[in-house]
Amino acid sequence: MCGIVGIVGHEAVAGQVVEALRRLEYRGYDSAGVATLAHGRLDRRRAEGKLSNLELRLRDEPLPGAIGIGHTRWATHGRPNETNAHPHATARLAVVHNGIIENFRELKAELQASGVRFESETDTEVVAQLVSAEMDKGLGPVEAVAAALPRLRGAFALGFIFTGYDDLLIGARHGAPLAIGFGEGETYLGSDALALAPFTEEITYLEEGDWAVLTREGAAIRDIDGNPVSRQRQRIVAQAYRVEKGNHRHFMAKEIHEQPEVVGRTLAHYVDLANGRVALPEALPFDFKDLSRLSITACGTAYYAGLVAKYWFESLARLPVEIDVASEARYREPPLDTAGLTLVISQSGETADTLASLRYAKSQGQHTLAVVNVPTSTIAREASAVVPTLAGPEIGVASTKAFSCQLTVLLCLAIAAGRARGTLSAERERELVDALITVPGLMADATKLEGEIELLAREVSKARDVLYLGRGTSYPMALEGALKLKEISYIHAEGYAAGELKHGPIALIDESVPVIVIAPHDAIFEKTVSNMQEVAARGGRIILIGDAKGAAAAGLDTMATVTMPDLDPVVSPIVYAVPIQLIAYHTAVFMGKDVDQPRNLAKSVTVE
Ligand code: F6R
Repeated sequence: MCGIVGIVGHEAVAGQVVEALRRLEYRGYDSAGVATLAHGRLDRRRAEGKLSNLELRLRDEPLPGAIGIGHTRWATHGRPNETNAHPHATARLAVVHNGIIENFRELKAELQASGVRFESETDTEVVAQLVSAEMDKGLGPVEAVAAALPRLRGAFALGFIFTGYDDLLIGARHGAPLAIGFGEGETYLGSDALALAPFTEEITYLEEGDWAVLTREGAAIRDIDGNPVSRQRQRIVAQAYRVEKGNHRHFMAKEIHEQPEVVGRTLAHYVDLANGRVALPEALPFDFKDLSRLSITACGTAYYAGLVAKYWFESLARLPVEIDVASEARYREPPLDTAGLTLVISQSGETADTLASLRYAKSQGQHTLAVVNVPTSTIAREASAVVPTLAGPEIGVASTKAFSCQLTVLLCLAIAAGRARGTLSAERERELVDALITVPGLMADATKLEGEIELLAREVSKARDVLYLGRGTSYPMALEGALKLKEISYIHAEGYAAGELKHGPIALIDESVPVIVIAPHDAIFEKTVSNMQEVAARGGRIILIGDAKGAAAAGLDTMATVTMPDLDPVVSPIVYAVPIQLIAYHTAVFMGKDVDQPRNLAKSVTVE
């Protein structure tokens, strides 16, 4: 996590550095800082908390200088205070860092033994001191970085500037992403293209182990062994990296409301509307009919998308599916045979655990397929095949539109797999495609329920605990609903398979615990009704998210019913995502929480 940026330009750059950091704040917002060089002299400003605090600091004490680096932090080593804020500096240099230096304790002990004094509790300061120590031995900045890099273990990206060197910025990538941008007499460094989009459309992504020497004239890139290499330049469409909130109060609200459009765009990419069939434009280096098993790994919300997909792949394609959170899958060393496929799902494409499980699958000789939202991400580049979600940049920390686009792509994949394996008739495929085509419109209808959901959220906000229940694909949706609520409102929430309630969680039910039941009128609806009755019999207050047919059939006295449109139950998770997200959003807003940047979280989790 953390976002880093560097600019070597021809006018004062502090403002641009802050602008780029604003676009990286999704990676962490525990503290922020900028360092610049003016007439060869290094100076820095740092502030605890959000970037806005740093901006206030800079307003009072501006930083001159046409070269600078900046950082927005998600704390790993050391508290999120100003002393631990980046850039870390010595008399010789300043450095910003994303990731973890795993061997920082031994390096710190070694440096301390030679008389170096440390100010912060961070692993990053070790990097500053190590490179400084090399310069003390007489090396120039480039040679000093070259000498220090091989001594660092872990996954990281770094950016350096040096006292006395007004035209020198060094960046290094080892396990965390880093991009270089090229402008007119200006060169940029950033954790991703999003950060650099306001300045340039010409980008190069460093590859694993690369490091680069940037000047105003461009960048010289070297590989892990120090050999000069050239990496392809790509054009990014700055428009695609727009990150305005529009008329919405929060990015999360904007992204919830964008779903009909982005799901529609994703569908248009995967569905041949004229012929009523799924048509995958990306060539896959395997045939679904030859697969013995599908192993899915992902984290958080992306994992819940995978859990929904398990039901789809098993029922539509009769393909055995195993699914695990990536942080477990990567260390479990599951046996993966070469006839199997590993499917990873990630919005950012940078999640450390998901990336590690992808690499593990590749090491076992499996085909790998990635469902990712950031096409230039590490996961997208390393997987043997990629099927993109076309959600556009997702800025709110809580995933919304990326989730619904993941579901859309996964359902298309499951349909394609069913056809290839001969388990899905052309007629059923056409029915499913017809149902899929209605999804964007149904999602738009669901957003119209916002007014009533806002009122309902006021009730939810009074609760200390909230339970979510569902069966079938609504079970992972219950898990997702609980995650969404807890991460942005800080209300304790748990999702359960409705049938599992009586095996323990039912003990939690009383009048103070709202129970949100996700139940479209599907083949197992009646089973869920029995579970709702068990809740009602114990005084539990039910909020039903279901359709009119189901609500009438259940005949229960609910605290509230969110009446969803009728639909083919197969596509219900994509549409039902909307009220689930809106409940969490409005509860958190009503409670005055920071929905776009909830405490302790970050958007891109590049540490394990
Ligand atoms: C929750 C949320 C997270 C992410 C998880 C994986 O709203 O956004 O749980 O889903 O951190 O991130 P990606 O999809 O980037 O791999």
